[in-house]
Amino acid sequence: MTRSTLKVKDLHVAIEDKEILKGVDLEVSGGEIHVIMGPNGTGKSTLSSAIMGHPKYEVTSGSVTLDGEDVLEMEVDERAQAGLFLAMQYPSEISGVTNADFLRSAINSRREEGDEISLMKFIREMDKKMEFLEMDPDMAQRYLNEGFSGGEKKRNEILQLMMIKPKIAILDEIDSGLDIDALKVVSKGVNEMRSEDFGCLIITHYQRLLNYITPDYIHVMMQGRIVKSGGPELAQRLEAEGYDWIKKELGIEEDETEGQEA
Ligand SMILES: Nc1ncnc2c1ncn2[C@@H]1O[C@H](COP(=O)(O)OP(=O)(O)OP(=O)(O)O)[C@@H](O)[C@H]1O
Ligand SMILES: [Mg+2]
Repeated sequence: MTRSTLKVKDLHVAIEDKEILKGVDLEVSGGEIHVIMGPNGTGKSTLSSAIMGHPKYEVTSGSVTLDGEDVLEMEVDERAQAGLFLAMQYPSEISGVTNADFLRSAINSRREEGDEISLMKFIREMDKKMEFLEMDPDMAQRYLNEGFSGGEKKRNEILQLMMIKPKIAILDEIDSGLDIDALKVVSKGVNEMRSEDFGCLIITHYQRLLNYITPDYIHVMMQGRIVKSGGPELAQRLEAEGYDWIKKELGIEEDETEGQEA
């Protein structure tokens, strides 16, 4: 398998005519782990939603490609089938669909007709992964995310990730709301996925996740742009000093998009 590449070029995205992303450039390839950090309300989740094709987010210019294919031309399910995966900041609850059924149809929708995963193989694999993630086996038969605690939802997103095996995954605040042990389990899941066939973009506020997952690149998003990129040491400096020094360095003024919760 060749390494996949997700390329985001000069991406501008608006929500209800308000420009949120103002020219984002980013490239994530198989084998790499990228991290985006940045103040609340600067457009990190907007970037993930736009890449996955959420209808509310209007791409006004720029491009997104996966291995040269135009992602913006694809329907939402085609993006997933092409190998993109998003663990949402706030995973949705789907009543009436069990976790296991959801997973199995997600896997099969990414496979050719006639090549569907057998029920036995699916169950064996799911059991193994759930054990690896120290999940209660009952979670398989519960409705997707319904009544799951915050941390259970995040762990379940990692189960999906490990079962679906996307080419490129975006994990939006996968560490938020996790207790210390859960943080380790979730990190273990991401580390288990690490290979040339898997590229990952992690959105986080805290350096502590990076004690468990060693990233290759850190990017800082502010006011709808990636304003700075570096190695893991950048996350350490942000943890210690916050974002003011970057604003000073770049001469960025506070604006109305900052300090707001999404
Ligand atoms: N569906 C929406 N309708 C209206 N405004 C939105 C919508 N989604 C995002 N926004 C606005 O876009 C801006 C960026 O939001 P976004 O969720 O991308 O921020 P974020 O960087 O992920 O923040 P956080 O760190 O708090 O998760 C915010 O000002 C937010 O209020
Ligand atoms: Mg967000």
